[in-house]
Amino acid sequence: MVGVSHALLALAALRQVSAAAASPRSTCNKVQYDFPAGTNRNNPRANAVKEAYAREWRQYYKYAFPEDDLLPITHNGTNDLFGWGASVVDGIDTAIVMGLTDIVEKQLKHIASVDFTKSAYIVDFFDVNIRYLGGLLSAYDLLKSGMFHNKYDPKLVDGLLSQAKSLATAISPVFDTVTGLPASERNLTSGEVIQSTTTVNGKTYNSTNTAQAGTMILEYYRLSDLTGDESFRKHARRAEEFLINPQPAPTYPGLIGTELDTDSGNFITFDAGWQAGVDSFIEYLIKTYQYQPEDKLTPQMKDFWLTAVESTVDNIALHPYDHPELTFLSQSDSNGNLMWSMDDYACFAGGNLLLGGKYLDRPDISDLGVRVTDSCHVWYNSTVTGLGGGAISWYNSSNQAYDSSADNNAQDRAAASKDGFWFTNVGYGSYPEPLESVFYAYRTTGETRFQDYNWETFLALNTTRSAAVPYAEITNVTAPYGLPLSNYVSSFYFAEVLKYLYLTFAEPDVVSLDEWVFNTECHPMRIQSKCAQKHAGH
Ligand SMILES: *[C@@H]1O[C@H](CO)[C@@H](O)[C@H](O)[C@H]1NC(C)=O
Ligand SMILES: *[C@@H]1O[C@H](CO)[C@@H](O)[C@H](O)[C@H]1NC(C)=O
Ligand SMILES: *[C@@H]1O[C@H](CO)[C@@H](O)[C@H](O)[C@H]1NC(C)=O
Ligand SMILES: *[C@@H]1O[C@H](CO)[C@@H](O)[C@H](O)[C@H]1NC(C)=O
Ligand SMILES: *[C@@H]1O[C@H](CO)[C@@H](O)[C@H](O)[C@H]1NC(C)=O
Ligand SMILES: *[C@@H]1O[C@H](CO)[C@@H](O)[C@H](O)[C@H]1NC(C)=O
Ligand SMILES: *[C@@H]1O[C@H](CO)[C@@H](O)[C@H](O)[C@H]1NC(C)=O
Repeated sequence: MVGVSHALLALAALRQVSAAAASPRSTCNKVQYDFPAGTNRNNPRANAVKEAYAREWRQYYKYAFPEDDLLPITHNGTNDLFGWGASVVDGIDTAIVMGLTDIVEKQLKHIASVDFTKSAYIVDFFDVNIRYLGGLLSAYDLLKSGMFHNKYDPKLVDGLLSQAKSLATAISPVFDTVTGLPASERNLTSGEVIQSTTTVNGKTYNSTNTAQAGTMILEYYRLSDLTGDESFRKHARRAEEFLINPQPAPTYPGLIGTELDTDSGNFITFDAGWQAGVDSFIEYLIKTYQYQPEDKLTPQMKDFWLTAVESTVDNIALHPYDHPELTFLSQSDSNGNLMWSMDDYACFAGGNLLLGGKYLDRPDISDLGVRVTDSCHVWYNSTVTGLGGGAISWYNSSNQAYDSSADNNAQDRAAASKDGFWFTNVGYGSYPEPLESVFYAYRTTGETRFQDYNWETFLALNTTRSAAVPYAEITNVTAPYGLPLSNYVSSFYFAEVLKYLYLTFAEPDVVSLDEWVFNTECHPMRIQSKCAQKHAGH
């Protein structure tokens, strides 16, 4: 049930600290827990994850390279991400961090051979940005940092940045819309920019989604800072202005919908929450501020994040009926009605709240982050596979479901009384988000129980596979071994799943959260702020 008294207490705490936050204060708060030197040195768990990467890479290299993704059952590959070798570009920074130098050598050579200005496929801006641009910038930053092995051909290392710039230049015409909000796709052969459309109440709009319009800002800021070319930052800022000054106002302040009209800049849906379609927009508000608090736009982004978080506490951070120990972040339908449901993507919120809570010195926000992280962990450990399905629903405080057909569904009732929720999607598509939040929880609180949670999930992943099929996505988390398997390994298995796991077990100063900020695909980029330089020199 929604604990009214608890909500009120939390609210009072928020108001109190908000007043304090208005006074000028240092923005150089440390995000990471003060780990004693030498914590976790040579942890065998980190080595087990590293072995998992090497094993999976061998399969990919044998059956799919240089195609984008591995089809692990039919033993071939597929070009579903524009044919530039997505698993290589998305996965290289993980191999760099793990010190898999032979693999990195091959990956660097492949990247140098790609022409990112050409593709036989229609190219999608969102994936170009989070997977390819993020992967290139991160590999460049990590190799240039002096913190990792870098005895590679310097031309190949410098090439990472020039490839990033040429890719961003090839895709940036998507910003040539009436408002400057990005269109979704581009045909690089014809040069044509392709708009998505959304139909609301019988009217069709050229549209972009919030996550797409608000997710390139971190990568574009980094690219401008590394190349000195300000055009990228300008594009990103212009799009962001529509998101942090939403018209018309959202149902709950700060919790904007998923679709905007690219011709007017107005929102056309009101589906609030931290779910797919909005997720990484909220995520980047606080991350871009941490990256560069001295910037003219990022303080406004931070304020918008705080508004969204306060609205989350007031309206959508809910306990399922009779399960006060769980806190989920609900989402609403496109008209703004709450649905008492959450998708797996929103499980990143725990980590994002912990990052912002620590950075802004707001223990109340960190506390919500821990509660959401713990609840997503229960989402996983409640199943026979130890992995979570794609979406859940629950009964609200009056013991009713959004979809009234679930009110009398015996199976849903049984699941809800045992676990607090039921699955509305039982597939597991290599979701990294719960691993991500648990990683942040460990790095910000220092509590080793979080390492144990990610180890449980690693072992769960490791037992849903066989010698012939080292890793495939699974279609039913509630069936033994998740069977049937699905014939696919996403590039983000290399980029995110294995990196968040590895970094949970590696020494905490490897890719410290005080010096690096992760893009939404788990690609760490060097923080530009003076605070990071200060922390690096501690
Ligand atoms: C992969 O192999 C299977 C079985 O041989 C085949 O049906 C499928 O078309 C292949 N997929 C691709 C993308 O080539
Ligand atoms: C992209 O443009 C080229 C050149 O006009 C055209 O031949 C091709 O069919 C287009 N691709 C798609 C998938 O529409
Ligand atoms: C979408 O944009 C194109 C190009 O600006 C314009 O021709 C078209 O009318 C717009 N479509 C809608 C549904 O507004
Ligand atoms: C799941 O983890 C929680 C701790 O977050 C623990 O209290 C609970 O007993 C675990 N459930 C199962 C079924 O292991
Ligand atoms: C619970 O959900 C039902 C159906 O969506 C709704 O009518 C009711 O107002 C909700 N109760 C609360 C307390 O939110
Ligand atoms: C993970 O699975 C592989 C392949 O079955 C096995 O060799 C390895 O020992 C497992 N790792 C752990 C930590 O259980
Ligand atoms: C998933 O597996 C469970 C247990 O075997 C079964 O009851 C359920 O119908 C399956 N769901 C789907 C969507 O296949």
